[in-house]
Amino acid sequence: MTVLALETSCDETAVAILRGRDDRSGPELLASEVASQIAEHGKYGGIVPEIASRNHLVYAPRLLNSTAMASKIDLSDVDAFAATGGPGLASSLMVGASIAKGLAIGFGKPYLAINHLEGHLLSPFFSGADGEAGIRPNVSLIVSGGHTMLIRVHALCDYQVIGRTVDDAAGEAFDKVAKMLGLTYPGGPEIEKLARNGDPNRFGLPRSMLGSENFSFSGLKTAVRYLLPKIVGRFCETPGEERRLTQTPYKLDDHVLNDLCASFQQAIIDVLMTKTIAAAQKYDVDLVTVSGGVSCNQELRRQLHEACGRNGFEFKNAEPSLCTDNAAMIAFAALLRLQAGFESELTEEIDPNLALVR
Ligand code: KG4
Ligand code: ZN
Repeated sequence: MTVLALETSCDETAVAILRGRDDRSGPELLASEVASQIAEHGKYGGIVPEIASRNHLVYAPRLLNSTAMASKIDLSDVDAFAATGGPGLASSLMVGASIAKGLAIGFGKPYLAINHLEGHLLSPFFSGADGEAGIRPNVSLIVSGGHTMLIRVHALCDYQVIGRTVDDAAGEAFDKVAKMLGLTYPGGPEIEKLARNGDPNRFGLPRSMLGSENFSFSGLKTAVRYLLPKIVGRFCETPGEERRLTQTPYKLDDHVLNDLCASFQQAIIDVLMTKTIAAAQKYDVDLVTVSGGVSCNQELRRQLHEACGRNGFEFKNAEPSLCTDNAAMIAFAALLRLQAGFESELTEEIDPNLALVR
């Protein structure tokens, strides 16, 4: 069974072709390509929806061609066409979903609308065998630019939301703090790079809502904002002055910048780790998984892996190329759903606020 998937929920245009195997050895990724728009959005410090959708229109047809060539298959041999149906930017989701529907109609094959969060959620199982039967019960942490969630996974399509962020997502906090520090977008990889040479104990930053199953990162971001003028030795006299100062990207000495990045990163890791382990204990699973762009962070992966080991949980994460937005994870979720007998109506509309659990 071969599935072609498009992912255009935000600022990455991605196409992948995935073939399921009969021998229970896990699916074969025939091609997976991502056209990044980081350069186009970087100069605005964030994503501009109009630019994203225009770029999807340019990149998606090119990627369809190049993935078909790379996988050496004819599109008529594809068994189903899938696209991210939400959550995401409406005008971006529309591009991928319309193309997948068009292909499904043209070739007379099923269409599947996949929830972006389910794509992330299942990605740690990508290299595993046994298809949907391989999706074991687990507590899953999704950490991306748009979402921070803890999910209890019972089986494929059977999920329960344990907790979610009440304000900023972890990736969003990385991006916003990076912007304050004058680092380039996306901020997560930049902060991680600088944090490698920094002292995570140098600056005391808050670990919010540790007693709750929900998350909050906006207090941490604000704490960094108010720490910055103090670090540069500029104490604010008036609220207006304070606002002006806190909106300025600061130029810090290299070692102070490294220490601040390390302290900030560690505050995020502590919160994610504490809540994930507590949830795994409470819900009595033996497996913990992590996915989403922030799970590329090597220090998070290392510390979460160690914490799972100490507490007797198996730990699974996806390889980095499957953590940030990509179409292979959408194709994988589509393949598992197709094998389980699901398909979507062609009339199914995209939903920018699509929930993982309806
Ligand atoms: O999953 P993703 O590619 O897109 C969304 O669905 O949002 O996640 C993007 C987020 C960005 O906020 C980016 O800063 C963050 O993932 N990120 C990282 C790292 N790589 C990407 N955060 C921390 N450390 C990283 N190495
Ligand atoms: Zn994502």
